[in-house]
Amino acid sequence: MGEVFLTARGVAAAMFEKAGIGSKMEFKLAHLGYFDAPASKGHHLAERGGLLTHSLNVTKRLVKLGESLGVNWPRTESPYLIGMLHDLVKCRCYQMVDTNCPDKGYKYVQPAYAGHGVCSIAIAVELGIDLLPAEVVAIMYHMGAFGIGKEYTDKEFYAAMSNYAPYIIATHAADWYAASVDEIDTNPVNPVNPV
Ligand SMILES: [Fe+2]
Ligand SMILES: [Fe+2]
Repeated sequence: MGEVFLTARGVAAAMFEKAGIGSKMEFKLAHLGYFDAPASKGHHLAERGGLLTHSLNVTKRLVKLGESLGVNWPRTESPYLIGMLHDLVKCRCYQMVDTNCPDKGYKYVQPAYAGHGVCSIAIAVELGIDLLPAEVVAIMYHMGAFGIGKEYTDKEFYAAMSNYAPYIIATHAADWYAASVDEIDTNPVNPVNPV
């Protein structure tokens, strides 16, 4: 039997299935621009479909990291939900400069709230996706210590870490590893900024 070829969309469908959100949600995400958005403005995967590739990379890393670290997820769907949704706001915060000339890149549009983790959670809520507290916190603080002073205060971060450290650490590591290693070839500048 020949090798089965799965497109990124196909892999995403499998990941959404494992996350417990099916094809109906995939349709809503497509409408939001999830499959077309870039992962950044000028760093890693600043290209059409970049968000999807990045989300898949983070999810794969998060599943593996969770296994190797022995993270006790609240449910089996957690690493899939967190990985696929942690940067959901990127559907809205990057706009193509010239739709007739995609090579011109993207401009950043400030989302409704400071903190792209919080904004991603807000969009998940809008879409009707139920997240457990540990999943919300992992997404909200996925920038780790780098988000202090930019997306949250040090007190907020330490409070979150005191209750949810395994989820925050694993998510931050998976995100950083994906952007810094898996996607390094797509990054024209160093050091990387995997926001
Ligand atoms: Fe990310
Ligand atoms: Fe991010």
